Amino acid sequence: MKNKINFNEPYITGNELENIKRVFKENKFYGDGVFTKNCHQKITEILGKKNILLTDSCSSALDIVALCIRDEIGSGEVIMPSYTFPSTANAFAKVGIKIVFAEIQNTNMTISIEDVLKRINRNTRAIVMVHYGSFLGDILKLKEICSKKKIILIEDAAQAFGSKLNGHSAGTFGDFGCFSFHETKNLHAGLSGALYIKKNNYFKKCQMIWERGTNRQELLKGLTDKYTWREIGGSYYPSELQASFLDSQLNFVRENISYRKKLYEKYNEFLRDLKTDGKLYFPDLPAELSSNYHSFYILTKNSHQNLLLRNFLEERKISSYIGYIPLHSSPMGSRLGNFKKDLPITNKYSERVVRLPFHNNMKLKDVKYVCSVIEEFYDGI
Ligand SMILES: Cc1ncc(COP(=O)(O)O)c(C=O)c1O
Repeated sequence: MKNKINFNEPYITGNELENIKRVFKENKFYGDGVFTKNCHQKITEILGKKNILLTDSCSSALDIVALCIRDEIGSGEVIMPSYTFPSTANAFAKVGIKIVFAEIQNTNMTISIEDVLKRINRNTRAIVMVHYGSFLGDILKLKEICSKKKIILIEDAAQAFGSKLNGHSAGTFGDFGCFSFHETKNLHAGLSGALYIKKNNYFKKCQMIWERGTNRQELLKGLTDKYTWREIGGSYYPSELQASFLDSQLNFVRENISYRKKLYEKYNEFLRDLKTDGKLYFPDLPAELSSNYHSFYILTKNSHQNLLLRNFLEERKISSYIGYIPLHSSPMGSRLGNFKKDLPITNKYSERVVRLPFHNNMKLKDVKYVCSVIEEFYDGI
């Protein structure tokens, strides 16, 4: 009997335990130790940028950003896509910043520049670009708009660690880039994340927020003889146990991506005819994008077909998943004054997304099997 094909399985390199044992030798567990520093250095090398803070999640990285810029934003607004994970909005809502949801542009599910332009007004202080799946969206256009209009640009690159556009890393185009190392991501530490901060003055402030709102880092550098409360902050870094786990995984970023590329290309190949026949749709990757191949999704004709297909897959022991449930139409979104009818394009596409199984333990023959089941489904309708 065929084994179940899981939607996700956490990536394991085999070197994690050795690194965790080294934490016991170091005898320093709480965080900001040698493994956190290793991660900072490796992430700096991978992204080609300094000013990195390892966090306990991408949600925390976003929280730090919101705490850092909330005084500057004041009674202003932040624009973000409704098609995102709640953490993107939580960070800003928590500190009382007004959120304006924008449409996605099309089937790559990233924010629509055209719609953003309609929503920018004199209160707009920041815009969040959320990279989705294997795509980066129109980050270059958004960067140009933000620098012209002096708007802070934040990248929620939770899913995009290791992707590059024209040679520049996702998460490093804007003023801030937030990454996730949750176990559902390409690389992980169970839970973890990272924050890239472009400007040195923001970096200093974020570092204090990260360090429980104190200037303890200055004490460690010998720049002061005691540390005090300087910012509203939190305990945002991971323990050394998590950092050591991630440290061992960061050595495998290239291997991780190149295997995922093979899986992605197989999906692409086996589903192409169904796409050509107009039975389902998936967007093509732009030539200038070097993706991290985080996920592969298809768009069904409508929400009913989405449900039927996912049930059909489940009956054949294949787990699939929907995309994000748009925030504007969520219970919290409506409590913040949004209405479902506000974002018709987001509604239309989000209910059609089916994310297919995608992880490094999958074999190419598993992809072939998933695609044959999808073909069988479409043959029958
Ligand atoms: C766009 C986006 N932002 C933030 C997060 C939260 O990441 P974490 O689980 O690391 O806090 C996720 C989770 O998948 C996400 O998809």
